[in-house]
Amino acid sequence: MEKICLIGCESRGTIAPEIYGHFAEHIGGVYYDGLWVGEDSDIENINGFRKFIIDKFKAINPPVLRWPGGCFAETYNWRDGIGPRDKRPATCGWWYNYDHRVESNAVGTHEFMDFCEMVGAKPYVAANITAQTPMDMRNFMEYLNMPENTTTLAAERAENGHAAPFDVQYFGIGNENWGGGGNMTPEQYAREYIRYATICSSVNVNGAKYIACGADSWNIDWTDRFMREFAHRCPIWGLAFHYYCGGAGDPVNFTEEEWYTLIDKASKMDELIHRHDAAMLTHDPERKIKILVDEWGCWHPGGSGPSKGYNLFEQQSTMRDAIITALTLNIFNNHCDRIVMANVAQLCNNLHCLFLAGGEHAIVTPTYHVYDLYKEHQGSTQIETAVTVKSLSVSASERDGVVCVTVANTSYDRDAEIELSAFAKDLGTSAEITMLHADPHAHNTFELPDNVVPENPAVRALNNGTLTLTIPAAGICRILIS
Ligand code: AHR
Repeated sequence: MEKICLIGCESRGTIAPEIYGHFAEHIGGVYYDGLWVGEDSDIENINGFRKFIIDKFKAINPPVLRWPGGCFAETYNWRDGIGPRDKRPATCGWWYNYDHRVESNAVGTHEFMDFCEMVGAKPYVAANITAQTPMDMRNFMEYLNMPENTTTLAAERAENGHAAPFDVQYFGIGNENWGGGGNMTPEQYAREYIRYATICSSVNVNGAKYIACGADSWNIDWTDRFMREFAHRCPIWGLAFHYYCGGAGDPVNFTEEEWYTLIDKASKMDELIHRHDAAMLTHDPERKIKILVDEWGCWHPGGSGPSKGYNLFEQQSTMRDAIITALTLNIFNNHCDRIVMANVAQLCNNLHCLFLAGGEHAIVTPTYHVYDLYKEHQGSTQIETAVTVKSLSVSASERDGVVCVTVANTSYDRDAEIELSAFAKDLGTSAEITMLHADPHAHNTFELPDNVVPENPAVRALNNGTLTLTIPAAGICRILIS
């Protein structure tokens, strides 16, 4: 019997809802025939966006959505995506050389903001700092956020159908500027960051939060050198690193060994947070600058999704991806004193997605169900936990007298017998237990959309503050105790 103990007297603070953030880039099939079908489509839609996705996405309380990239951001001209849709230019986006798909710009600023409003997510805009100037970004901010009846750009926004400001708060200054975003050194990027953030701060109408481009996964040197050069010279809210894990076989037909390879890689998120934190600490001992992970997920070979390779990077999502989601979100919850936002890449028809869609079909993946189960953690107070075995990934939180415990059994084939109790805390008397489990390779398809769904919740009484239960191999469990 393995033991999980909630340490009632220890907490790292509030779990920022934004840890449950998302990312929807203009790449492959994320928008066109994914999220967006157009207002005139026979497919049920609201203002051009698939109604199925709006309803399902809204149901998991998405706190924030990053746009328009990713790499795409670094060649995006925001002016291409405003004004009458039939007058917008067709352009070669950043990904053109990969899939030869032309960007219609049918989804631009107003459409994206409308989608955010419909699903209740805050927009996070990544600015182009490689191919545009600080003035372009400043003008974009003015267009987005200046109050009605003030500037000419605010008037243009009103002419385009939105008199009120969009009140965008999160602004990314560039994307992967160590790579596709200009191949810069950390010192070069820090200088660019300072230029853009300084100029844009003069149109800071609603307290914009600037997010700097952090490292690619293990490049701790980038964090250290950026921090040294930046030297607190201008406003910054956070530094965002990216971490993808892959190299673990086919998305669906992986072996047991590949299962553990991926679990191991994903578990490294914990060490990564520690190491970037340590690199930042010498330059920012008061930890004023936050850490974000604004792209993370599994990156498997493409071609396994319903479009059979037409949609760039589209991959099937199995229970393995759901387990990776669960263990990663547990890591973020347990670092809530440091991580203020994380954005899984990406929302639809791409890497590690929550939705697969095409034509009249749209389904949710097992990863979607993890976000649904874990939404109780958003904005709750984290509780530290102690676990007797490494194969169980756990996090816990409390809000309004309800304790939420989420557990992922990362074993490929061994069920886990568990005794859950608390130290320095009176747990309630009743537990609602919801399990999501299936064969490690199980996934949903257009033909079998509900192959992987959570079981109906079971209600159990605690015995003297203790709950015993079995979590199946490759299983995820949410326990709500009151
Ligand atoms: O998510 C796909 C791509 O991965 C993003 O555009 C880029 O930022 C990263 O390399």
